[in-house]
Amino acid sequence: MKSSFGPYNIQQTLGEGAMATVYLGQHRSTGAVHALKHLHPHLASIPAIKEQFCNEAKLLDSLEHPVIPRYFGKVEDEGRLAIVMEWSTGTNLDELHEKGSLSDRSKLHHMAQAATALAYAHARGIVHRDVKPENILISGDETKLADFGLSLIDQNKTQSCTPQSPQGTPYFMAPEQWRVEKLNGAADMYSVGVSLYYLLTNTFPFEGNSALDIRAKQAFGTKVSAKTRHPLLCTQLDELITSLLHSEARFRPSAKEVVRALNPSLVRRRKLPKPSKNRTQYLLSR
Ligand SMILES: Nc1ncnc2c1ncn2[C@@H]1O[C@H](COP(=O)(O)OP(=O)(O)O)[C@@H](O)[C@H]1O
Ligand SMILES: [Mg+2]
Repeated sequence: MKSSFGPYNIQQTLGEGAMATVYLGQHRSTGAVHALKHLHPHLASIPAIKEQFCNEAKLLDSLEHPVIPRYFGKVEDEGRLAIVMEWSTGTNLDELHEKGSLSDRSKLHHMAQAATALAYAHARGIVHRDVKPENILISGDETKLADFGLSLIDQNKTQSCTPQSPQGTPYFMAPEQWRVEKLNGAADMYSVGVSLYYLLTNTFPFEGNSALDIRAKQAFGTKVSAKTRHPLLCTQLDELITSLLHSEARFRPSAKEVVRALNPSLVRRRKLPKPSKNRTQYLLSR
């Protein structure tokens, strides 16, 4: 990356995903410091991806919630676009988890916060489709649900929308997301269930060596409860995770219900395992 982008001086890289790199930039005339999301160069020339990126900007612009990064606009440099948004000064939940530097109470706090953003998005007919710890940004006690790059909007507010292909991060994808069926917020709630399972047990409900392997285990394998993987897990929390992982969308709790249920006291006297795992991420259609 060059040292400037449009009116911004680039100061450092904040993070990288399958689609984009996010940089910290300082506006040359106002001095404002923002996060600049920039598509990977090999993807930026693909029209469908460029369109998706513009949709992400439009969507972010329409959202106003304390747990979603504020949108400040788009900037262009030599024909390349970047989304300008609020800078979350810490790191993402996945990195913090891998470092082992977050207590289980904090994990529940941040997941509950992310669920408030989901309740807000779902009420507007938006399905995020890529909820996972890597897309949850943490700075101190503050949480931001980021990366609306795969989000779908239900234009007719019928509480469901139909994607064109399976998209998402395989470990976190709901069965209906794989089947390319109509989706509603319940697909995100499945991903919340996987995220909780992963953060608290350091394993996934369905492990696999490839995206298809994960999908096959989800469809035909035996579900192992989070409590089986970690017997000290509080039963209430285990039941919540199990219900979030229900194969049928209509049986999963809503984001609002999760906000109410995720009480940090659920882990008060429970010692949960330390993270220790080498994880391979598989990305699909991103
Ligand atoms: N507003 C932000 N402030 C700070 N870091 C961010 C911000 N947005 C994203 N990041 C970091 O950049 C990473 C990639 O951003 P993301 O939007 O998830 O890209 P992708 O669509 O490629 O997955 C995130 O996992 C996070 O670590
Ligand atoms: Mg991401």
